[in-house]
Amino acid sequence: MRIEMSNIHKAFGKNQVLTGVDFVLGEGEVHALMGENGAGKSTLMNILTGLHERDQGTILINGTETVFSNPKEAEQNGIAFIHQELNIWPDMTVLENLFVGKELRTKFGFLNSSEMKALAKKQFDKLSVSIPLDQEAGRCSVGQQQMIEIAKALMANAEVIIMDEPTAALTEREIEKLFEVIDSLRTEGVSIVYISHRMEEIFAICDRITVMRDGKTVDTKPIAETHFDEVVRKMVGRELTERFPERNPTLGETVLEVKKATRNGVFEDVSFSVRSGEILGIAGLLGAGRTEIMRAIFGLDPMDAGEIWINGQKEVIKTPHQAVKLGIGFITEDRKDEGLVLDFSIRENMALPNLFSFAPKGLINQKSEQEFVDMLIKRLMIKAESAETSVKNLSGGNQQKVVIAKWIGIGPKVLILDEPTRGVDVGAKREIYQLMNELTYRGVAIIMVSSELPEILGMSDRVLVVHEGRIRGELAKHEATQEKIMKLATGGK
Ligand SMILES: Nc1ncnc2c1ncn2[C@@H]1O[C@H](COP(=O)(O)OP(=O)(O)OP(=O)(O)O)[C@@H](O)[C@H]1O
Ligand SMILES: [Mg+2]
Repeated sequence: MRIEMSNIHKAFGKNQVLTGVDFVLGEGEVHALMGENGAGKSTLMNILTGLHERDQGTILINGTETVFSNPKEAEQNGIAFIHQELNIWPDMTVLENLFVGKELRTKFGFLNSSEMKALAKKQFDKLSVSIPLDQEAGRCSVGQQQMIEIAKALMANAEVIIMDEPTAALTEREIEKLFEVIDSLRTEGVSIVYISHRMEEIFAICDRITVMRDGKTVDTKPIAETHFDEVVRKMVGRELTERFPERNPTLGETVLEVKKATRNGVFEDVSFSVRSGEILGIAGLLGAGRTEIMRAIFGLDPMDAGEIWINGQKEVIKTPHQAVKLGIGFITEDRKDEGLVLDFSIRENMALPNLFSFAPKGLINQKSEQEFVDMLIKRLMIKAESAETSVKNLSGGNQQKVVIAKWIGIGPKVLILDEPTRGVDVGAKREIYQLMNELTYRGVAIIMVSSELPEILGMSDRVLVVHEGRIRGELAKHEATQEKIMKLATGGK
């Protein structure tokens, strides 16, 4: 299938989002769609698949002008969209998810499960994935859920699959698997639109790249004819010299100490400390238990054993409220579930931690709320009409920035960041790193959980590596390398 979108325009109210986008997808190609947060990537694909109506422009499919009136129609015509937030029904089985809305029936009108099972098995075999069909989909890993969505698309005879940030929550192994699947789909003539902020992946898997900026197409070219710096320059419209800002930490007293923390079956015997002004990086593979350890420290989950000391004093933290009172902030990895109130405005979300009635020490003391909110919107380059825009109307990456801003203003003693830059574009990433530096220069201790090794290496003063719920090693800044971390993270010595 060949798709040609030309001169596409789209506004949401007064917010002119697309102002003349051209995008051509050839048959059997993997085409990267890149651009800063809010550039309009998801919107463009939502227009293609009929969720949004374009204001202007043409869409040709195999040469014929085509407009779908809804995503279902697009799917029936061979275009499947796997969204940033997956569309899995957690309480239904894998099989039910594969056939939801398209159940096969016998001639008597009963569900034909044996036929559905056979088809599903055939598709899974083709993708060489093995997921039990009668398992609840909510119990599958994100990688498995992704494979369910791909299988679903293929069973609907998709000729084009749009993947929006497909690897954001995948383990290394799952990413490898996904790339194998993409490779074989390409060979069969399936076209893929690949949206991602992870530059390494774009260069590893894509044939061509289209870069968008400010609602327009900046450039389309074969991936072999471009390189990292050029793509970044085209995305942000300026030269971005260093990926990580320079860092000159001064370490103070130990602020937080965790002693022999255990949550049965989840993590065990976890001991570490972090000092004022320090960035402690927590590396490990997805599912190693890093988030679970942080959740327990913050009082979201109970601990079965262990102690938490703050400023040399033993404390009991049973609720997030207590944690916040003791000066701990937590930026969760899951912006939709825990980080944000989607119906609230940007301002309301940023001011939200104050609901804990914790005496603020940070920036918010020095500036009025209005100034503070405006400052963070500007610094983090949050793309929105105004501070009053409701968070649900922001692009994925911009939502993540609001989560971060929300906590930064409080100026906690210890700030836990779980995957702080997931889904965030390169320019804003650097701004987040700069804010982290500034916070530590003011004495905040930062614990940063991250699956992106360059980020761990680029920002941490010290690195802990977690594997299967235990700390397997500690590396000082000067001794930390990608290889050493990977080795510890996979259980090696
Ligand atoms: N339903 C909507 N109502 C109002 N504004 C919207 C809506 N959907 C998107 N927008 C706005 O359109 C712009 C483009 O958003 P879009 O989600 O397409 O960006 P993106 O390129 O996918 O970004 P990201 O990398 O962060 O996912 C943003 O400014 C966003 O706030
Ligand atoms: Mg998006």
